[in-house]
Amino acid sequence: MNEYHALVLARALHVFGVVLWIGGVAFVTTVLLPALKRHEPSGRMALFEALEGRFALQAKLTTLLTGLSGFYMLYALDGWSRYLSPQFWWLHLMTLIWLLFSLILFVFEPLFLHRWFHQQAQRDSDGTFRNLQRMHSLLLSLSLLAVLGAVAGSHGLMFGG
Ligand code: HEM
Repeated sequence: MNEYHALVLARALHVFGVVLWIGGVAFVTTVLLPALKRHEPSGRMALFEALEGRFALQAKLTTLLTGLSGFYMLYALDGWSRYLSPQFWWLHLMTLIWLLFSLILFVFEPLFLHRWFHQQAQRDSDGTFRNLQRMHSLLLSLSLLAVLGAVAGSHGLMFGG
């Protein structure tokens, strides 16, 4: 396999990871959380953990795959200097989203987020789920913006400059 084919393979794996990962976030945000909001507060937390818990492992694996393939492409394209150019805002946004999700999944969640979320939900279930929905909506919107910018930008649409 030559270098060009390795780049094409990395791109395919990158998009494969993004589809599973951001698709899952879209499902949680637009289907699961709104349905749980209508569920009575007592069983809500257990249901959320059972359902999103299954997605957490998938999210970890797809975050790793997306990050590895993304950094490999930057290496193969020798594209590190793109970080210095505002025209590649979508690369900055992709990297930021990846960093945020990686921190949440691999650091914050096991360290304190899980326990904190439990305590908050016991105190004020409706408010906690509302905030959870807001955070998910924000992350999903940024991710979709990154997808639009990345496909347009890497296929030749120039954003200024
Ligand atoms: C560490 C994080 C990431 C890095 C280093 C990275 C890097 C890259 C690179 C170098 C490209 C190819 C650009 C080109 O061909 O000119 C690319 C494409 C792309 N990335 Fe990322 N990426 C990362 C995370 C993400 C995330 C989180 C998303 C989704 C929210 C994403 C979605 C895409 C999409 C949709 C493409 C376009 C594929 C195509 O149409 O060819 N990336 N990325």
